[in-house]
Amino acid sequence: VVKVTSICCIGAGYVGGPTMAMIALKCPHIKVTVVDISQPRIDAWNSDELPIYEPGLDEIVKQCRGKNLFFTTDVEGAIAESEMIFVSVNTPTKKTGLGKGKAADLTYWESAARTIAAVSKTNKIIVEKSTVPVRTAEAIEKVLQRNCNTSGVRFDILSNPEFLAEGTAMDDLTAPDRVLIGGKIEGQEGTDAVASLVEVYANWVPQERIITANLWSAELSKLAANAFLAQRISSINSMSALCEATGADVSQVAYALGKDSRIGPKFLNASVGFGGSCFQKDILNLAYICECHGLTEVADYWYSVVGMNDYQKNRFVKRVVSAMFNTIRNKKICMLGFAFKKDTGDTREAPAIDVGNGLIEDGARLAIYDPKVSDAQIAMDMGAGMSNITTYKSHIEALRDAHAVCVMTEWDEFKSYDWGEIYGVMQKPAFVFDGRLILDHDKLREIGFIVYALGKPIEPFLRSAEGN
Ligand code: NAD
Ligand code: UDX
Repeated sequence: VVKVTSICCIGAGYVGGPTMAMIALKCPHIKVTVVDISQPRIDAWNSDELPIYEPGLDEIVKQCRGKNLFFTTDVEGAIAESEMIFVSVNTPTKKTGLGKGKAADLTYWESAARTIAAVSKTNKIIVEKSTVPVRTAEAIEKVLQRNCNTSGVRFDILSNPEFLAEGTAMDDLTAPDRVLIGGKIEGQEGTDAVASLVEVYANWVPQERIITANLWSAELSKLAANAFLAQRISSINSMSALCEATGADVSQVAYALGKDSRIGPKFLNASVGFGGSCFQKDILNLAYICECHGLTEVADYWYSVVGMNDYQKNRFVKRVVSAMFNTIRNKKICMLGFAFKKDTGDTREAPAIDVGNGLIEDGARLAIYDPKVSDAQIAMDMGAGMSNITTYKSHIEALRDAHAVCVMTEWDEFKSYDWGEIYGVMQKPAFVFDGRLILDHDKLREIGFIVYALGKPIEPFLRSAEGN
């Protein structure tokens, strides 16, 4: 079993950066080099302004950088000198060609594999960190073996999917529920490669949390885990629609459900929709694989999870328009939050994008405030819609003269705002649409707001509850 002393990670993104920082912190005896083709990204990793915001990351990078953690664009050099190579490149949804809009685009993965093959002169353990379709390791093995010019070089491929969530990445990496390592079970070398990676994690993860499996199970488990998590959100969101129609309260329903130990309380927060770079992409990828195997019913089951998410975002827009007397033309509507969840500056697939476009289509002028997302990022995400959008650095300015406020992200600071002051600067009637169920709705109503919260009793039911 190789006791690894040098690791290279290809891809310095949301996964590569934090995971390698954690390995460097917990394994001072291992030299960790993170490489990327993007010079600006590497420059940012080497600066005081890291390219991603993740609570706790700054401190760890500062502690290890230059000691046993390095960031460089010298992809080939770092691969050549490392024993173990993590591949953590992006695997987005294909935009064109066969399977477009569904299948995973493995262009970056394959290109990384070709580089590995071209520059490797010694044996390498290759670790799939990216989320990939089941049986990708098989394809990658062929690319590696057929493109390596040095004879006798051995490549062992492992699947080690990452389960961290953004915003809590460092905590998730410090104490993971489990680390999953898939490898070839036949042959001594395959088993040794698995043992080498187990040994790396065992520096801080308890043995019983390190699970080994065959390659295909590990690859599929990652897609399945994201599909199950997203399915819970779509399920509770479907209930939120029924709650609004019947006078039930989705928080109370979720609480009652979560008390069943078989169901559990997590991931049952109704919302304006799930976002993030993973859920939709991975479910579409999973469903596409099912389609390719002729499993149409299975594919349709998973597509419906994405369908429910789209429905929820549309429903939110419709609610805003209908509540505001069916016209939002030229009304200033403030969006509090733009990131896909709190404690991150990431906006990939953020529900704010679709909701924002929906409101603009109905003629609204948007005022956007997010504590972490840059103006440039909002401009990139909203494209042509920007002619109807102003971004703000202060929430109160974003809210001044607004007719309505839509809570898009569950940032903690929104809860502690002076909502009395906010009411004072807004147009009347002042509407609140809480897409994250984080505000104190009774208090807001006392102040004078008209409040709509997802899955919560609305007007006719409210009146009957108060006996009016
Ligand atoms: P990202 O886009 O933030 O980072 C990927 C990086 O890889 C980019 O900086 C890109 O420049 C670099 N890259 C691409 N091709 C390269 C090449 N040939 N050589 C060197 N660098 C190259 O992506 P991410 O969010 O870190 O996701 C990476 C993978 O991890 C994806 O497969 C994703 O599905 C999976 N994943 C993501 C998360 C998450 O929370 N973001 C969680 C679990 C798993
Ligand atoms: C997800 C998975 O949780 C993680 O294990 C995987 O590695 C990557 O994908 P991430 O997308 O970073 O992580 O965040 P997550 O916390 O899962 O939230 C995803 C979306 O679902 C967010 O938009 C969030 O606001 C939403 N969500 C989450 C809900 O709407 N309700 C919930 O109860 C939980």
